[in-house]
Amino acid sequence: MHSVRRVTDDICWVGGNDRRLALFENIFPISRGVSYNSYLLTDEKTVLLDTADRAIGDQFFENVEYALSGRALDYLVVNHMEPDHCALIGELIRRRPDVKIVGNAKTFQMMGQFFDFDLEGRTIVVKEGDTLECGKHTLHFVMAPMVHWPEVMMTYDDADKVLFAADGFGSFGALPGHIFNDELDFDREWLADARRYYTNIVGKYGPSVQAVLKKAAGLEINMICPLHGPIWRSDLSYILDKYHKWSSYEPEEKAVAVMYASMYGNTENAANVLAAKLADAGVKKIAVYDISGTHVSELIAETFRCSHLVLASPTYNGALYPIMENLLNDMKALNVQNRTVAFLENGTWAPTAVKQMRAKIEEMRDMRVLETAVSVKSALKRNQEEEIDALCSAIVDSMR
Ligand code: FEO
Repeated sequence: MHSVRRVTDDICWVGGNDRRLALFENIFPISRGVSYNSYLLTDEKTVLLDTADRAIGDQFFENVEYALSGRALDYLVVNHMEPDHCALIGELIRRRPDVKIVGNAKTFQMMGQFFDFDLEGRTIVVKEGDTLECGKHTLHFVMAPMVHWPEVMMTYDDADKVLFAADGFGSFGALPGHIFNDELDFDREWLADARRYYTNIVGKYGPSVQAVLKKAAGLEINMICPLHGPIWRSDLSYILDKYHKWSSYEPEEKAVAVMYASMYGNTENAANVLAAKLADAGVKKIAVYDISGTHVSELIAETFRCSHLVLASPTYNGALYPIMENLLNDMKALNVQNRTVAFLENGTWAPTAVKQMRAKIEEMRDMRVLETAVSVKSALKRNQEEEIDALCSAIVDSMR
């Protein structure tokens, strides 16, 4: 049975949901699942926009066949060649051997790498600004390199004013029957996963996202159809504002995220004492994370949300605690920048964690490091309260 939903008079959602997959890309936990969106335009020509992940193949083909209702499939537009969207191209060609595949030069290079089927006579190679006449609808192709991968493009339908945005504006989370942002409480139920998706999957490529946002600003857009998560058909400025902030590495909120690593609870205690003092000093938005028990993808999302970070770590084998080192390496890899960072360390005999964390942070762009730091010897003692107060004051001052 199909699970097709109508997006506009001529466009249907023909994707599917996976609630069984534990780790997206075999890295990111997705306790709320994930959707693989695909869209079918039916005009004088019929056009499928991207396929889906192999895991939902049965549902996807059921949906496509239903939405085609006996018609031929003229075109497949491939906006993205990552296997969570392209895995079913081979099977689609087996079922619909006459379909023409629309992509750019890089799309077809990757298609040749992933698949063995014969592309001869099947391809339509497009570049920036090219169009595909479908009847009432004309599709315009907008290159979006590195809005996740180099071959990525977006497709704009000038009749319904829909932007098919590939991974852009996507989110983790399976769709609960509802597929539109205005059918959901996005801010409460989806924003955290949308932020975690963007920051971990596309976060590194902020300048590329900015370039596409500039191109999108020149289009009249009524609807954004991503390859994952809800379709945007109202309040587009809400998600565009988030994307402007995330892609320019501007903090989303004036907020403090305290991220601590603690082997026996002593560094944790110091982090909790600092957090309580920050709250006493009037800081409104404080989040505290034990980084050993929080997936690094959630921590990365928080580094994009918060203006201020406090990193607290023991020294370990004379080096950084490995989980803290991993977080810092991931922050650098994902281009985290333009934050204010404070440090707290612990060491029973030779504490060096502040020095090492600072060195890693200083490798990132536009980071403001607070000189005031706290060094705990094994456990925080009452006679160090002034030092904690000084760190608290330095953080509060930097937030003014
Ligand atoms: Fe959802 Fe970059 O693939």
